[in-house]
Amino acid sequence: MTECRIKRIVGRQIFDSRGTPTVEASVLLKNGVMSSASVPSGASKGMYEAFEMRDEEREFYGKGVKRAINNINTELSRILESKRADDQALIDSIMIEADGTANKSALGANAILAVSLACAKAAATSYKMPLYRYLGGVGARVLPTPMMNILNGGAHADNNLDIQEFMIVPSVFDSFSRAMRAGAEIYMALKNLLKEKKLSIAVGDEGGFAPNLENEYKALELICDAAQKAGYTPGKDVFIALDIASSEWADEKGNYKLPKCGKKMTCEELSLYYSDLTDKFPIVSIEDPFSENDWKAFERFTKKHASLQIVGDDLFVTNSERLKIGIDNSCANAILIKPNQIGTLTETLDVIRLAQKNGYKTVISHRSGDTEDSSIADIAVAVNAGQIKTGAPARGERIAKYNRLLRIESNLGMSAIYGK
Ligand code: PGA
Ligand code: ZN
Repeated sequence: MTECRIKRIVGRQIFDSRGTPTVEASVLLKNGVMSSASVPSGASKGMYEAFEMRDEEREFYGKGVKRAINNINTELSRILESKRADDQALIDSIMIEADGTANKSALGANAILAVSLACAKAAATSYKMPLYRYLGGVGARVLPTPMMNILNGGAHADNNLDIQEFMIVPSVFDSFSRAMRAGAEIYMALKNLLKEKKLSIAVGDEGGFAPNLENEYKALELICDAAQKAGYTPGKDVFIALDIASSEWADEKGNYKLPKCGKKMTCEELSLYYSDLTDKFPIVSIEDPFSENDWKAFERFTKKHASLQIVGDDLFVTNSERLKIGIDNSCANAILIKPNQIGTLTETLDVIRLAQKNGYKTVISHRSGDTEDSSIADIAVAVNAGQIKTGAPARGERIAKYNRLLRIESNLGMSAIYGK
């Protein structure tokens, strides 16, 4: 099939939702198909993530991506010319080899991922298939449960909450669109509640509200009140998920200091704090309860909370080698999947397969700085991931993913599966 061979690849700088430069790649095939993909960027990054190449010059306060773009337009274009866009594993391995480093620091994971995803989209278009169908085949049918981040804290907001994400999980409805309705109604109810209480309705990076509150308990109470106001029963119709993002709290000695309230805690104290939160509120999932280096704390906590979903984000960084350590030591029971933490689509699909084979749940995820690219929605359906976290049901770059899932659901019609 000569027609789906790559003719040219063009990189360009665009902007993410925080107004920071990011990378977009367009792949032009010999058959005339052209597809583009862009990459997101995190604020609370894990230390073991693949390398995001930034220019570190005066322009854009050091956040420019000219070098990464240049790598697309020169080396990556050259080595991939005439390769088949549908040979994803080969495309990705050529880029990995050309980079030659363990963390993609020579060419930049942002440059490599943009090309990797654009190739997949171009191949799918060549086969006249939606991306989820091309990647997942006829078995791709499960619409993910959305984890909607309706209250922001931590590094994503300027308020006084130390926990980064308070998410609602509408998992028990019979369709994705019905679950979206619940999420959107609760988001609206929360806005009204905040207004009534004369609290700020300004939003954080992921579109959730970011008011100053007495403490995290108050945040959880507000969410439960909002759910009730919208006509849903917390613990029955909707549940709560937290992303602690506690790597941001950790010091070198293995202790934790909550940056905003200033409180210091050992990992045992933190563990008791989470037990108290889960006793008092219908929390079904906790992400990064301990830092990326605290394997032992993860192991103990996972053993103690068998029925809780414990998600490794900074802990696993979408990396098969790190997930294997987790599997061998029973650390966490779910993995957050962020393609830009590892840098290619092939490696992303590999780590998802490894997780699923070993009984780990998979949550496909956006980044706090994101673009209108909605590939993660297609990936979530392609691999029947079961869960997606892509922010509040608000702001264009978050809604792009939810709207894509709504379109996929209507496309699948009777074949769509939700919440089973
Ligand atoms: P980030 O945060 O995209 O800012 O790294 C998201 C997360 O921690 O899950
Ligand atoms: Zn996280």
